[in-house]
Amino acid sequence: MKAKKQVIIFGDMRVGKDSPNRSKRTPTVRKIKSAIVPIDRSAVRLGHQPGARPRVETGSAAVADLGASVSFEPTLAERESLDRIDLSVDLAPEHGGLRLANPILVASGTFGYGVEYGEVVDVQRLGAICCKGTTLRPRAGNPPPRVTETPGGMLNSIGLQNPGVDAVIEKYGSVWASWAVPVIVNVAGESIEDYVEVARRLDGVPGVAGIELNISCPNVGKGGLQFAIDRDAARAVTAAVRRATQLPLLVKLSPNVADVRPIARAIEEAGADAISAINTLSGLAVAPDRTRAFLGNTYGGLSGPAIKPVALRIVYEVAQVVSIPIVAIGGVTSIDDVLDFLACGAVAVQVGTAIFADPELPVRLADELRAVCLRRGLETYRPLVGTALPKRTGAPSAKGAEYRP
Ligand SMILES: Cc1cc2nc3c(=O)[nH]c(=O)nc-3n(C[C@H](O)[C@H](O)[C@H](O)COP(=O)(O)O)c2cc1C
Repeated sequence: MKAKKQVIIFGDMRVGKDSPNRSKRTPTVRKIKSAIVPIDRSAVRLGHQPGARPRVETGSAAVADLGASVSFEPTLAERESLDRIDLSVDLAPEHGGLRLANPILVASGTFGYGVEYGEVVDVQRLGAICCKGTTLRPRAGNPPPRVTETPGGMLNSIGLQNPGVDAVIEKYGSVWASWAVPVIVNVAGESIEDYVEVARRLDGVPGVAGIELNISCPNVGKGGLQFAIDRDAARAVTAAVRRATQLPLLVKLSPNVADVRPIARAIEEAGADAISAINTLSGLAVAPDRTRAFLGNTYGGLSGPAIKPVALRIVYEVAQVVSIPIVAIGGVTSIDDVLDFLACGAVAVQVGTAIFADPELPVRLADELRAVCLRRGLETYRPLVGTALPKRTGAPSAKGAEYRP
């Protein structure tokens, strides 16, 4: 962004040409710095130390070089070293374990039930698959149009179209059971009883490795108030599902709240194994003739690169108030995005909207994360987690995001 020269005039702007006040004006030419300053990571890019041997260490000193982008063609020897790097992560250490071979997952609603991508992607190389939102009964979804592009993202209002939990189990359960990659079933409902019943039916089904609660759904019993924006409702639905199933339990936060921290804490206290953050941001598009909203459902969920700073902020805040694992979601399109989320305290990352443009991206990101570790002399990616968090956590604010315009 180029700096511009601009004339700044101080004094009373209302004075006329012949006014005696005119002399009070003080024209000044100043250099105005661009308001938009892109992050420049070039100074800290990896792989610019020719001949340097990889150091193998796991302390924080190994991550002095915190920015990273990799463009990396491994040699044969490096390839062997890459295979030795441990990217595994357990998302439910307290509850029987939900061990993933790597921390790159695919986000609910953007990868179907996994089987649809079998021809295009080696799904076994994903960390895990979060399948499309599943409800107790089949749902036809919202009226069209259901999606539209936005700058840096998209709006969707699919409306949880799905065949219902029994059909999902019947259709996909046996395929999932034959896969090494864990499948996490994303569960939605309109009441606590809905969520509990879906969880109960999934419990013990071979091929179902865990549950992710999509609590960004209207709670019909509470006048349509979303579970995710009400601390007590979030706590109640998490606790009820926890009692109903032995499966590892992730609960997915909505960004559409003033302060997500009390909600995250309530979810942890209610027994969730991990937190996923974030779901889409509530948004709207206008029809071309401007006589109505564009989407059939009026509102849609914004996703894609446009929401990454919001997701980063929420992960950063939540990481300081809970101790269960955080799985970050929101606008991931590159290894830099993955590293940013890890730095803010996430232990794993889901890729969503970017899959529509590049279905192989999640698998590639796992490879690139391995390459980052190798170049930094790390045996695991763990030292990359939480490096951007404040060294000492202050008392959590009651006001929400610490942003003052
Ligand atoms: C078309 C579409 C459908 C989605 N369906 C679901 C869903 O069924 N359940 C859910 O929890 N999240 C759903 N999401 C939200 C994503 O899982 C993810 O949280 C969000 O898109 C942000 O990540 P992204 O910016 O990488 O896409 C959906 C997103 C999109 C774009």
